Amino acid sequence: MQLKDRKIIITGGPTREWIDPVRFISNPSTGKMGIALADEAVKRAKEVVFIHGNVSEALLREKSYKLVAVENTQDMLNAVLSELTPDTVLIMAAAPADYTPIEKHEKKIKKESGSDVITLSLKKNPDILLNVAEQRKSKPGLSGIFVVGFAAETNDTESNALDKLHRKNLDMICLNDVKAANAGFGVDTNIITIFTKQNEKIEIPLQSKKDAAAEILNQIEKKI
Ligand code: PMT
Repeated sequence: MQLKDRKIIITGGPTREWIDPVRFISNPSTGKMGIALADEAVKRAKEVVFIHGNVSEALLREKSYKLVAVENTQDMLNAVLSELTPDTVLIMAAAPADYTPIEKHEKKIKKESGSDVITLSLKKNPDILLNVAEQRKSKPGLSGIFVVGFAAETNDTESNALDKLHRKNLDMICLNDVKAANAGFGVDTNIITIFTKQNEKIEIPLQSKKDAAAEILNQIEKKI
């Protein structure tokens, strides 16, 4: 099945895990990589859905694909699962928070009444890609979906990305060395290494996120 016959679900941006009404845990993702992928995907696919965490409104203006805004990682998981169809290509470029506070305070935590040190207890969030892998196994209708993950790494980049490719049962993973200059979070450019389930390694050297997105979709198109 070609991309023009497929639905592409792309996730982008960070999720937020609220501690109290004025504080949250998050990360520096802006959604630029996810938006570049969705902008390119809409030229090629039957349908595109962009599921995003907190992303600047200016970046989302005048998009011709479906936008689904979510707050936290559990919301993103629910949104992804509810959009999955047998013809889906899922690209997880989002940076979902891995941990969430065990306790969510309804009122602002007051620093005046607290001690100088406070401890925040966190629990692990669900892993969206592991849940998708489970769905693929348990629901025969979803066995044909194609799943692409990203790996944001700071060290042992290649071995960590390969571990995620296999552990999360992905068809492809896009390694982002987020310590490299002009790559990863926030910037308009990226440097990516793609690893496929078939043990291929494809380098995408420094270029705009727009061009990198087109190359990622070219590689997906070759595989589906
Ligand atoms: O948004 P930008 O500013 O343009 O930055 C782009 C980016 C750096 C965020 C993007 O290119 C990127 O690398 N995204 C992946 C970020 C990340 O969460 O990486 P990870 O190695 O922690 O996670 C591995 C994979 O699991 C990712 O596809 C992630 O979306 C997914 N994941 C993570 C946590 C979780 N609870 N569930 C998941 O499915």
